[in-house]
Amino acid sequence: MCKYSYLLIIPLLCLLACSRQPASFRIGVSQCSEDIWRDKLNSELRMAAYAHEGVDLLFASADDSDERQVQQIDSFLDVGIDLLVVAPNQVGTISPAIDRAYDRGVPVIVYERKTDSRNFTAYMGADNRLMGRQMGEFVCQRMKNRARVLEVMGLNGSSPAIERHEGFAEVLAQHPEMVLVDALQGDWTEDSGYEAVMNYKGDLSQIDVVFGQNDRMALGARRAFIEKLGSDERVKSGRTLFCGIDGLTGEQGGIALVRDSILEASYIYPTHGDEVLDLALAILEGKPFPAETPLQGALVTRQNANVLLLQAKETDRQTQQVDRLHALADNYFARLNQQRLLTLLAFGVVALLLVAIFLFYLYYRGRVGLQRERVLNNLWNIEPNLSSAVASQAEVNTGSQEGDEGALEENPPSAQAEQGTGDEAAEAELSDASASAFISRFRGFVESRMTNSELSIEDLASDMNLSRVQLYRKVKAITGSSPVELLRTARLNRGYQLLLTTDKTVSEVAYAVGFSAPAYFTKCFKDEFGMVPGDVRK
Ligand code: FRU
Repeated sequence: MCKYSYLLIIPLLCLLACSRQPASFRIGVSQCSEDIWRDKLNSELRMAAYAHEGVDLLFASADDSDERQVQQIDSFLDVGIDLLVVAPNQVGTISPAIDRAYDRGVPVIVYERKTDSRNFTAYMGADNRLMGRQMGEFVCQRMKNRARVLEVMGLNGSSPAIERHEGFAEVLAQHPEMVLVDALQGDWTEDSGYEAVMNYKGDLSQIDVVFGQNDRMALGARRAFIEKLGSDERVKSGRTLFCGIDGLTGEQGGIALVRDSILEASYIYPTHGDEVLDLALAILEGKPFPAETPLQGALVTRQNANVLLLQAKETDRQTQQVDRLHALADNYFARLNQQRLLTLLAFGVVALLLVAIFLFYLYYRGRVGLQRERVLNNLWNIEPNLSSAVASQAEVNTGSQEGDEGALEENPPSAQAEQGTGDEAAEAELSDASASAFISRFRGFVESRMTNSELSIEDLASDMNLSRVQLYRKVKAITGSSPVELLRTARLNRGYQLLLTTDKTVSEVAYAVGFSAPAYFTKCFKDEFGMVPGDVRK
């Protein structure tokens, strides 16, 4: 049966093969802060990952804390990530964690903010110096190159704060009447813009333009202006203008603030989460990738704010539509997967059933064939167990009673009654050759006389010149069966032959082989062959 076991293994292998999963990547995203700009980036990353099977994103936000960001990167490494995307809180403070990732062979994408570590795989981000310059040019133009300007900077030591300031100051410096009165320190949060202005010692009524390095800080500064000046007159009348950076869409975003004249200008600071994921996958899949990917931003002014918002709304509508389609697709694939699983299971069960049926068929055919062969070749299909026969016979003859009683199942002759007939010593000499000769003589008598239903064991014993007990013991010792059993087996085997080779009815066969009752023949036949005589003909 073993050689057919592959029939069981094949369906199982099919089941396993069908449930194989595609290669999967775990990407750690370490964000320095948590705010609407980073929320936008994270959801773009999630959307992009959604389109790639097998991408697992882990997010962590350090809430503007260097120590937390270092810990979070280290715990990413402990959990095991295939790639790290990191926006470093400050240029130098988290470099050791970036180095550790890189040294462990984890590719690193430095995103949006810069690091002083040289150990990273690729960089992606917008040009912050350029956007500082463009904002400076806008302010100069808007104020006709004559204004007193206050800057509120982002987190000290973070690369966009440094670069935006450098670009902005560089342009202002080209115009003698553009005065950068002060650069206050914020930390990118709205509150920090508010606090910076609240703590400012200068005269706010002399400030024409406030450049917040992001929209949130510009808003916080504006709030402080109104509060400190005791009226919103100067701010509302536009005598002090506020500019920021980020230019997010949505009603809370910088573009709407420009449209509503709360800010004079903003700058779209691009997120492009989808491009970040494409870059990550190119690195992970060993495809060529650029070491540096610049992202394109754009100035937002009153002139283009409306158009940009309209376009953004249009894009939002389409995104919602895509979201709905995603939800539908999710549903569809969930059902498809369920059905696939059920189909696979059904297939597996049917395959196993078929294999079982086939194996049973092979087994049954083998058994029937074996019986047929046995019956055609042999009368008894019992090979005399000659050596053990010699031993058993010796035991019998040395007077051992053990097992005798049990062995004389079918009306065994009383051993006690016939003990001491005097020929035990001679029988003890029974050799393999004489046992074989004895049995074939006995077989000859059985074969020639079994058709007689009156035939008794006494008749066979006297044919063999033995007493009934002697015959019993010798036959039993040599073949393991009693004479009655052998006679019955011989009759049944002959019956099987007749059923196979003649047209006789079952009853005729039963009588022909010495059974006086066909029903008894049928019963014995079933016991012997596991089927009724009629089955032989089938
Ligand atoms: C978001 C943010 C933006 C700013 C950028 C600077 O976390 O604060 O508002 O433009 O980071 O890195």
